[in-house]
Amino acid sequence: MISQWDEKYSLHVQKIDEQHKELFRLSALVDSLDKNTTKDDIKKLLNSFFIYMRDHFGDEEAYMKSIGYPLLKKHHILHQEIIENFTKLIKENHSLESLKTQMKIATKKWLIDHIMDNDLKIEKWRLQQLQ
Ligand SMILES: [Fe+2]
Repeated sequence: MISQWDEKYSLHVQKIDEQHKELFRLSALVDSLDKNTTKDDIKKLLNSFFIYMRDHFGDEEAYMKSIGYPLLKKHHILHQEIIENFTKLIKENHSLESLKTQMKIATKKWLIDHIMDNDLKIEKWRLQQLQ
């Protein structure tokens, strides 16, 4: 089960929060893929997911830069790794079942865990600066 977006994941930046909510929504869609889903449906979903995610990473990195976040470079590398993993998944010739499984793992492990862990570090750091 994919977790739902929650206020506790908020970075208190409306644009970024809205994008994270959309990524959670897309991940839940991936999680609900079942035996009726065709390979074409999955490829379409994977593609739109990929484009949305890539744009979001750009916006998030611009935000980190704007607040002088010291771990921007490290965070950028993590984003690059997620993009590389998704690119690999799109390119590899998986069977239908394997593609579904891989996508579920990918969205959970690479994306949702990333938001809950690494993205929250940005907000924790920002709040520390206010003390
Ligand atoms: Fe991030």
